[in-house]
Amino acid sequence: MKTSPILYLAPMEGVTDYVLRDLLTSQGGIDFCTTEFMRVTDKLHPNAIFLRYCPELLTGSKTRSGIPVYVQLLGGQALPLAENAIRAVEMGAMGIDLNFGCPAKTVNRHDGGATLLKSCDRIFTIVSTVRKAVPAHIPVTAKIRLGFDDPSVCLDNAKAVEEAGASHLTVHCRTKMDGYKPPAHWNWIPKIKEQVKSIPIVANGDIFSVSDFIRCRQETGCDRFMIGRGIMSDPFLFNKIRSHLAAEEALENYATESLACDIENEWRVSSEVMQTFFDRSTDYVNGYFATARTKQWLRGLALRSNEAKVLFNDIKVIKNPDDFRARLTASILV
Ligand SMILES: Cc1cc2nc3c(=O)[nH]c(=O)nc-3n(C[C@H](O)[C@H](O)[C@H](O)COP(=O)(O)O)c2cc1C
Repeated sequence: MKTSPILYLAPMEGVTDYVLRDLLTSQGGIDFCTTEFMRVTDKLHPNAIFLRYCPELLTGSKTRSGIPVYVQLLGGQALPLAENAIRAVEMGAMGIDLNFGCPAKTVNRHDGGATLLKSCDRIFTIVSTVRKAVPAHIPVTAKIRLGFDDPSVCLDNAKAVEEAGASHLTVHCRTKMDGYKPPAHWNWIPKIKEQVKSIPIVANGDIFSVSDFIRCRQETGCDRFMIGRGIMSDPFLFNKIRSHLAAEEALENYATESLACDIENEWRVSSEVMQTFFDRSTDYVNGYFATARTKQWLRGLALRSNEAKVLFNDIKVIKNPDDFRARLTASILV
């Protein structure tokens, strides 16, 4: 029997915070989450910082719907990374993910993120040091881009991650120099899989729809996928992929009915999700934060929904949270 694909919500700094993880995982479809990256220099962070990035540490490292959350660390020095990983685990983290892909100039200038892709030895040292530092039952995973400027280094880097003892490797199929320019080069994943056979590879980049998911699965041969920006334009993307997979399985089992992938009155459901998101972000931080974050999500939704585009154009200049909330509510009532 075919195993069901494992779906990961991508870490996205300034986007996939506690509130968004909580809301999205409550809708189903997601198997694992990762926190936004926590930058590590030479110090051990205080516990409050771990809790700021990962409030789920207080609830067994799981969202309220029971989905595991790994803590992501980013940095260039193995020992401080290991020290912070140990602390995260002492505080309850179910897994540690190491970021080798962040393209931000400030991060790269301070020897973190994608700049490490230039040296597979450094990647090996960091992953193996963290791996040895935390208990064996705690997964240590890594996330890379294809390279800094040369995609072919992904082969050595992936091998280094495997040899260092990581539990899985996520590959965002672009170089740092590619930024977010489409397309994602999924064709590198089969080449990586030829060399890296003992750990699973998670395919990441440019899955914005069920058809992108199907193509990515065909092209990579993976059974693990990470999705980030796709949820901004379609908050139900994970559920749609799950429905597709269920329909596929039903067909394979000669069932007569296939399951529908469509969510009825999608815009109404989306705008209700926006309202819940606004309210929870208000409770979590404040109304101004909620206004900014909800605008950010609406801008994403506007990429594929005309209703969202109209609402976003109308609402984007509103700064007062009460006025913003009132306009959001009115959009649901029409
Ligand atoms: C706004 C933003 C913030 C991101 N922050 C992180 C991060 O904190 N850690 C990380 O590993 N990747 C981060 N990424 C990269 C994503 O996890 C993902 O690899 C990338 O967006 C490609 O996947 P997608 O096409 O499904 O969005 C970020 C991406 C975006 C757009």
